[in-house]
Amino acid sequence: MKPSTLDNVVLEQFLNVTVPLQVTVTGSDAVTRTLEIPPLPPEQLGDQQFCREIGIRYPYIGGSMAKGISSVAMAEELGKAGMLGFFGAAGLPYQTVEAAVAQLAAAGVPYGFNLIHSPQEPDLEAALANLYIEKKVRLVEASAFLALTLPLVRYRTHGIHRSEDGAVVTPNRIIAKVSREELAERFFSPPPDKFLQQLFKEGALTAEQVSLAATIPMAQEITAEADSGGHTDNRPAMALFPTIASLAHRLQKKYAYPVQLRVGLAGGIATPTAAAAAFAMGAAYIMTGSVNQACVESGTSDAVRKMLAATRQADVTMAPAADMFEMGVNVQVLKRGTMFPMRAARLYELYRTYDGIESIPPAEREKLEKSVFQATFTDIWRDTRQFFLTRDPRQVERAEREPKHLMALLFRWYLGQAAHWAKDGAANRTMDYQIWCGPAMGTFNEWTAGSFLEAPEQRRVATVARALLYGAALVTRGNFIRFQNIRLPAAFTIEPLEDRLIKEYLP
Ligand SMILES: Cc1cc2nc3c(=O)[nH]c(=O)nc-3n(C[C@H](O)[C@H](O)[C@H](O)COP(=O)(O)O)c2cc1C
Repeated sequence: MKPSTLDNVVLEQFLNVTVPLQVTVTGSDAVTRTLEIPPLPPEQLGDQQFCREIGIRYPYIGGSMAKGISSVAMAEELGKAGMLGFFGAAGLPYQTVEAAVAQLAAAGVPYGFNLIHSPQEPDLEAALANLYIEKKVRLVEASAFLALTLPLVRYRTHGIHRSEDGAVVTPNRIIAKVSREELAERFFSPPPDKFLQQLFKEGALTAEQVSLAATIPMAQEITAEADSGGHTDNRPAMALFPTIASLAHRLQKKYAYPVQLRVGLAGGIATPTAAAAAFAMGAAYIMTGSVNQACVESGTSDAVRKMLAATRQADVTMAPAADMFEMGVNVQVLKRGTMFPMRAARLYELYRTYDGIESIPPAEREKLEKSVFQATFTDIWRDTRQFFLTRDPRQVERAEREPKHLMALLFRWYLGQAAHWAKDGAANRTMDYQIWCGPAMGTFNEWTAGSFLEAPEQRRVATVARALLYGAALVTRGNFIRFQNIRLPAAFTIEPLEDRLIKEYLP
């Protein structure tokens, strides 16, 4: 069947996504019909009930970015714009997170905090969970968990009660970020009984609370995280999302929860078409990361923002992660303009090959000390030792017993510092910048090339978010028309619309 042609359609009407669009079309049989395309304001793209429950207008979340890269300012700006931002608590000292909690609590907007699984620092994970309980942080993004932990269950079940109408009320909400179905299953299931019993023994839960807790999911929402910046399993969104969504459906039935399980999508979303695809798959909300790091509110340096603005799709690669170095875990980072990924990979190779720094061939060691560490191993170990003596003396004891552990701590010094050099914009260390970043960054730069959003100083989180949501609404409306076998005029194809969106709708 030949596509019908549009006899009349007004571009203005098409662009105003809050009004219905009436079009007259003539089919190949010369019969004329009038169609009404419904309005599609961006708030309607995701799960509106979810938005109501957490107090936001748009189904859009800025994901946590470690070391305060997703800053207080970023969460505040997203909150003011009717969206949600998670503060990036990972890798920060307790006092810094405590100060951020106080600032965001006073900001008068919805917000959340990251609770990241810290196998190296279980005490910090527990302390943060307690801080969130004490300061009434009601929304937490739980990430990097390999299994559920006691602090996480403590947070989720704290204050659970029955309301007057008999409903189970859980004041603390967890949005879990996962990229594996086994883990998604744990989060969509009730808290494990062994942890509930332990909390009961400690007096943290009453017997009634234990029985109520057995009827709730650990997390009502899961963000399926596809190939993204930072820690990632590099799963394609197209393959990951349907699996997690199907799991939500199955577990909803299995446990007959009175609340709705929901799935959001993160990873690779930085254009209207990607956002529209996420909503088309049924995402309750979308989450972004890489693109927000490139915005003015992020807690990184202008030097990094500039590098991110020049990033193309293939300029990212996997490199060893500082926090799980010995386990061989990788993170996705920028490779353009920095030698970090290569240098970090070399360190991991040496770690695998040798028993300790004494076994590294002298020429190799000299090269590393000169170009990578820019100091002798002896000096670096002195500082590292000092650091761990206050933070976790057990590490020093172990390193002094096991040369391989000492080598790991030394190498992790470089990986850790590399993130700081980037964040602080250290001019003498640009070649060592560790910048977490996914392919989404390149896709965003391609989309915004030639528009005002090309300049790093114009990139504001809420502007970017509005552009993505509004663009997704346009793409979806365009699809309503296309799927009826109606050919859109050239002026209505996505590219000119996006240009227009950026030039006219957003400033
Ligand atoms: C610089 C950076 C730091 C990140 N740090 C964290 C983190 O500490 N905790 C976390 O849950 N996710 C972290 N992420 C992941 C984001 O929250 C988000 O899920 C992801 O970036 C989305 O994919 P995208 O990068 O393709 O937009 C980080 C991402 C970036 C780019």
